[in-house]
Amino acid sequence: MSIRSERKEEHLKLAQMFFNKEKYNSFDQLHLLRPALPETKVDPTILGSKMFGQNVSAPFFINAMTGGSAASKQINQALGQVAQQQNIALALGSASILAKETDQLDSFMVARAEDPDGVLIVNVNPETPISAIKQIIQELNADALQIHLNTIQEIAMPEGDRDFRWLDSIKAIRTAIDLPIIIKEVGFGLDQTSIHLLKVNGIEYFDVAGSGGTNFAQIENARNASDVSYLEDLGLPTVVTALMAWQEQVKFFVSGGVRNPLDILKGLALGGKFVGISNVFLQEYIQNGSTGLDQLITNWKNELAALIAVYGKKDLASLVQIKKYYDLPLKAQIDQLL
Ligand SMILES: Cc1cc2nc3c(=O)[nH]c(=O)nc-3n(C[C@H](O)[C@H](O)[C@H](O)COP(=O)(O)O)c2cc1C
Repeated sequence: MSIRSERKEEHLKLAQMFFNKEKYNSFDQLHLLRPALPETKVDPTILGSKMFGQNVSAPFFINAMTGGSAASKQINQALGQVAQQQNIALALGSASILAKETDQLDSFMVARAEDPDGVLIVNVNPETPISAIKQIIQELNADALQIHLNTIQEIAMPEGDRDFRWLDSIKAIRTAIDLPIIIKEVGFGLDQTSIHLLKVNGIEYFDVAGSGGTNFAQIENARNASDVSYLEDLGLPTVVTALMAWQEQVKFFVSGGVRNPLDILKGLALGGKFVGISNVFLQEYIQNGSTGLDQLITNWKNELAALIAVYGKKDLASLVQIKKYYDLPLKAQIDQLL
């Protein structure tokens, strides 16, 4: 197995080891005001949305995780199957490995084979050669491209990148690629200055991927001979980074630490167009297979529709109008940062 494939398999094992479904995070410190008399009726049909011009059945999706190793291939096949059955979007894990190891293409292609017509999003790092990105997009018939920014993860890895001058590469990708481009973090959040810089350089979509769920400093620390656990607390909480994206008036997705349908509702109420879920879905698949994950997503759709009615709303577009209030520690961060 190559070093890159081995790393992906280690990430998978450690993401499972550190998984904590009940982990407290910023969603717990954000509250939505609920009317006792909402005058609404539960209607699951209101969840349908358009993502990059295509119909999807829900405002949430499976976010980037796997590809580039044997275990990843099996997972991508299952995720493709579930995404197809549920008609929700699927982002695959980083395909940058394909620039050097073309034999790993299969581990991504399996998802498209299972989900020929669904919304499929390819993910790369900013330094992936444009020729490789073009090829991956073409092979997978991708609908959008995610570029991940992951400075903390890189410095937590002894073998990680040490040069973070990425803007020119992102601009070059923007010019060369004729697909929607989403800039995402990997669980440490996007700050407002970076969102602004990317916005003025032509980036239209953002996935805030804040802290509160999977923590790549913790994962990399477990792979590192020296102790870099101090990096674990450097993330911007998902609610804070989402408020920053809202202030920048960009189109954004909310992700990082989403555990249940109430967190999804909160992400949509913060102005997210879609909400991304990674490890909670992965661990459901690992524990209960694709049938379990499929059932979980069915349940979440029904529960989300019920919550929307309880909060007095009849469509997705009006969720941003729900009155929000914050616990004091989160309010203090918001007051200082926004
Ligand atoms: C096993 C695993 C692999 C991941 N691989 C990638 C990746 O290749 N590219 C990427 O942008 N994010 C990757 N992520 C990060 C997720 O997309 C997401 O930003 C992060 O896990 C926070 O979301 P969560 O709390 O819902 O897990 C990975 C996450 C997990 C759990």
